[in-house]
Amino acid sequence: MSQQNDTSNQNGAFDSLVPVAMIVAMAKNRVIGVDGKLPWYLPEDLKFFKRMTQAKPLVMGRKTYASIGKPLPNRLNVVVTRNAEFSHEGVRVCHDLPAALELADQHATIEAAEEIMVMGAEKFTARHYPLPSGCTLRKWK
Ligand SMILES: NC(=O)c1ccc[n+]([C@@H]2O[C@H](COP(=O)([O-])OP(=O)(O)OC[C@H]3O[C@@H](n4cnc5c(N)ncnc54)[C@H](OP(=O)(O)O)[C@@H]3O)[C@@H](O)[C@H]2O)c1
Repeated sequence: MSQQNDTSNQNGAFDSLVPVAMIVAMAKNRVIGVDGKLPWYLPEDLKFFKRMTQAKPLVMGRKTYASIGKPLPNRLNVVVTRNAEFSHEGVRVCHDLPAALELADQHATIEAAEEIMVMGAEKFTARHYPLPSGCTLRKWK
């Protein structure tokens, strides 16, 4: 965790109290999605995803949320969008990743969740956006 101040690291991203993990299913060629959808249907992977994210706050980009189409049950769903008008029942909306992580962190702290899960779409990888220090990329495929 950063020593810079209470809430941000040197990248200006939010430093959470609760660990942040990124979960991503990736083909050998690093593809994670095609035409706004998952390019495969693997029930075992979906079960694994459910197990890994159950009861943990889940942060995702608006397009990832659109690909799912509804909030995933039994966990806080946080959708990040620049669209000030966006709202969907059952999801919390934030307009940048630090705000999303701050909300997820508060929720995880209250609910004693062991970690915050960032659903790894391209826009949220470390290459494109400063993720908190200590964030891990978990390859699951
Ligand atoms: N294989 C996997 O593990 C996995 C996981 C997740 C998603 N996917 C796939 O990935 C694809 C979607 O991913 P994607 O990378 O295209 O989109 P995405 O990251 O899910 O969503 C992109 C949207 O998020 C919002 N956003 C991104 N960065 C932002 C920022 N810094 N501040 C505020 N809002 C921000 C914007 O929404 P607005 O346009 O509304 O402003 C942007 O258009 C789909 O095909 C999905 O199936 C795969």
